[in-house]
Amino acid sequence: MKYIAPSILSADFARLGDEVKAVEAAGADWIHADVMDGHFVPNITFGPLIVEAVRRVTRLPIDVHLMIESAEDYIPAFAKAGATYISVQIESCIHLNRSIQLIRECGAKPGVVLNPSTPLQFVEWILELVEYVLVMSVNPGFGGQAFIPNSLDKIKELRRMIQNRKLNTLIEIDGGVNEKTISEIADAGVDIFVAGSAIFGSRDYKETIGNFKNKIDKN
Ligand code: DX5
Ligand code: ZN
Repeated sequence: MKYIAPSILSADFARLGDEVKAVEAAGADWIHADVMDGHFVPNITFGPLIVEAVRRVTRLPIDVHLMIESAEDYIPAFAKAGATYISVQIESCIHLNRSIQLIRECGAKPGVVLNPSTPLQFVEWILELVEYVLVMSVNPGFGGQAFIPNSLDKIKELRRMIQNRKLNTLIEIDGGVNEKTISEIADAGVDIFVAGSAIFGSRDYKETIGNFKNKIDKN
């Protein structure tokens, strides 16, 4: 099963509820919510209040991607706001195992995120404890950046690690996913495709998501 997760970072925030409903009607599988604090990344977005508002307008799973320092301090609030999945950046969590446990204790499903330059070895001892590994294919902070090509090799290697250990861990990709890049990304073995500007910047969300799914299904 493959999932398309539109990132609301590129939605029209003045019409956020309608935007979320529109991508749900257009065939989105998850809603991806990018939380930025102006410290871990050079941009600021939103907190639990927006996640709670999104929770009220959709039945889809909400995938909260925390690009923040001191993530542990905020995990309970995002879980309470209705996050289905919460992912933390490996670079910001010194006690990653504890952060992952905390996400489960709060009733959400944990994921771990790697920046483009962070080696895969860092997930070795957490791989069986998370629902998914999110491979960043841009440097986090902004939508609309170009896909970093060597992310494909990283995904392939991660796919091998997961297969060798006979795990069910999913692979998520985030950054620069569009109609040109998605086929190669799917070939590399991705399960969850985050896309912000390519969906919310398109004229017809249904057509765009439909095209994504056609390209993924060819694999
Ligand atoms: C980047 C965010 C992404 C972003 C992707 O820091 O984590 O989720 O929305 O945007 P696009 O799909 O436009 O590259
Ligand atoms: Zn993201």
